[in-house]
Amino acid sequence: MKTFNVAIVIGSLRKGSFSKQVALNLQKLSPGELKLHLIDISGLEMYNQDLEESGQEPASWKQFRQEVLKHDALLFVTPEYNRSIPGVLKNALDVGSRPYGHSVWDGKPGAIISVSPGAIGGFGANHHLRQMLTFLNVPAMQQPEAYLGNVHKLLNEKGEIANPATLDFLRSFMQAYASWIEKD
Ligand code: FNR
Repeated sequence: MKTFNVAIVIGSLRKGSFSKQVALNLQKLSPGELKLHLIDISGLEMYNQDLEESGQEPASWKQFRQEVLKHDALLFVTPEYNRSIPGVLKNALDVGSRPYGHSVWDGKPGAIISVSPGAIGGFGANHHLRQMLTFLNVPAMQQPEAYLGNVHKLLNEKGEIANPATLDFLRSFMQAYASWIEKD
């Protein structure tokens, strides 16, 4: 069986992040061909074009880019901040997209799961991210879509998703994503 290394980028640095809890559940319920790895963006310095152009790129940028490049595919699990993606995720996208012509995102098949304690499930973040992925040449799976609303009610005190309907949905989402990666 061919296996694919999938980088999971989480749009939250919060210790108890619901998005991170969802991502950890995905590791357990994904098909065997997907090897999921969480990429840490907490130490990533803010993108500054001056640092790049003067050859003073922080080590954190280089490490992050190398880490992403090791992977075949990208899965974004993100909350919504003010109807868009959190700044930490935008910064990670910007850092990975440079130097110009050497974007680490280029051509890697992607998928998005947006997460919110609210009812709309991070729709705004999900679609803003889609717009950026179009420019970054990341073919993002269109169906099924994943907007996980009321996420705090889906996770138990151990951070596990117990609701059978949600588990079924996420299993089918990850199965479709595996097919999407294979086709790419
Ligand atoms: C939020 N939150 C939020 N929720 C939402 O559904 N739509 C939104 O636009 C926003 N905006 C927003 C802005 C800021 C600055 C914060 C701090 C929070 C609430 C957000 O969904 C909630 O804090 C989640 O728990 C964040 O995700 P993690 O950290 O649990 O993964």
